Amino acid sequence: MFLVVPTPQAVADLVSTLVYQHIKAKPAAVLGLATGGTMEPIYAALVAKLQQQPLPLEKLTTFNLDEYVGLSAAHPQSYHYFMQQHLFAPLGLAPSQVHLPDGNCRNSAEECQAYSEQIAAAGGLDLQLLGIGSNGHIGFNEPGTPFDCNTHEIELTAQTRQDNLRFFADAAEVPTHAITMGICEIMAAREVILVATGQRKADIIAQLYASGVDEQLPASVLKQHRNLKVIIDEDAAALLP
Ligand code: F6R
Repeated sequence: MFLVVPTPQAVADLVSTLVYQHIKAKPAAVLGLATGGTMEPIYAALVAKLQQQPLPLEKLTTFNLDEYVGLSAAHPQSYHYFMQQHLFAPLGLAPSQVHLPDGNCRNSAEECQAYSEQIAAAGGLDLQLLGIGSNGHIGFNEPGTPFDCNTHEIELTAQTRQDNLRFFADAAEVPTHAITMGICEIMAAREVILVATGQRKADIIAQLYASGVDEQLPASVLKQHRNLKVIIDEDAAALLP
């Protein structure tokens, strides 16, 4: 289901309201979270809502989609750092409530397996928030990733490294690999909200709209999800028929 609203701020207002209502209805919810530019105004709006009308958050659990391999939690471009800055610290979430893959782990296969097990032990994800890469990735499941994957390490495509260069000082600093939740874990979420804003996403949103389910366009798997909302602004919707 595609929902088009006028601006990135309208997207942030709507998505943060949906997340707020979800937490209100289920204080022990398990949230799947994304990072990236698209999420910043959403987390700011959610923090503002929770400051104006607080909800008990002690029972909330979160799992992030991904983390760069080789970046420690203290690295300013790590997703640990992003989440701490934009959501976890402002909401006062305890370290025991929040989970991200460890990009600095010694054994990535073990880390991926452990992360999958933690998601399963939490009962799976109630609500998964997703952005979309300009190449159609969700999490860091790049085009061609098999749909039957759990958390795994992946090599980032040249396109993704180019897209994310804006967050780093130079190209050599952009990590080459990441650990990402797999399509299986994302698809097992009971509710999914995919968000896209800006002209930069217009082309992939039009492709997603037109595409069948295809491993070359990872987000297209969501068409098989029973409880999906795609929430986009007018710029991201510009090339829709
Ligand atoms: C980030 C993630 C990615 C981003 C996507 C869009 O945790 O999983 O799939 O959602 O790359 O990034 P932005 O929002 O920066 O365009």
